[in-house]
Amino acid sequence: MNRSSQIKEVEEFTRQFISGYDGGHDWWHLKRVRNLALYIQKKEKKGNRFVIELSALLHDIGDSKFINAERKDYETEVLDLLDNLNIDKSIIEEVIFINRNISFSKGLTPAKISHEFMIVQDADRLDAIGAIGIARAFNYGGFINNSIYDPDGKEPSTIRHFYDKLLKLKDLMNTPTGQMIAMDRHNFLELFLDQFYNEWHLDDKRE
Ligand code: ADP
Ligand code: NI
Repeated sequence: MNRSSQIKEVEEFTRQFISGYDGGHDWWHLKRVRNLALYIQKKEKKGNRFVIELSALLHDIGDSKFINAERKDYETEVLDLLDNLNIDKSIIEEVIFINRNISFSKGLTPAKISHEFMIVQDADRLDAIGAIGIARAFNYGGFINNSIYDPDGKEPSTIRHFYDKLLKLKDLMNTPTGQMIAMDRHNFLELFLDQFYNEWHLDDKRE
């Protein structure tokens, strides 16, 4: 089986697997992360494109926000899928490693990470900032019933998530290309917040 057929099979598996995830973690998110990761690879000239593509497609499989008891053994499912596609053991290991360790919420970056890991992680994080990142955050916030904003700072809100996570991402980029794209998207987050507070505090200004 050639590489493009292997990728097609992995796409099929992934599309089916993530069907219960929210709109910010849908097939379009995976496509964006794959495109961004392949773009970063081209600029950086580091890392294996096949490993990057597989890892981007599979990075959200088993995300703890969505996984249910029925599919808790998702890692075996991924292993079996890749093994049945006759993908090299060393590639499978790397893809599984990336899937296990990429998440921001897990909060740990392993001591030794590959170019492929760095690139896919940057791509995933870039999709959490900028205009699309903002859209995804409010979508996920709505999905878990959070408010848009709580000016008293008591309740969890999507605006609070900007401070908990989104505004930190630009300093967590692994690659120079990731950093450059992050700057631009980060500035847009700041612009959005300025406008948001201006609109919110309209009454205070009129008084
Ligand atoms: P990762 O996939 O790196 O673990 P997350 O799962 O934390 O990252 O985030 C994935 C997406 O969901 C991002 O777009 C993020 O902004 C959004 N998200 C996660 N938690 C929240 C939250 N509490 N409020 C709003 N958006 C959130
Ligand atoms: Ni993701």
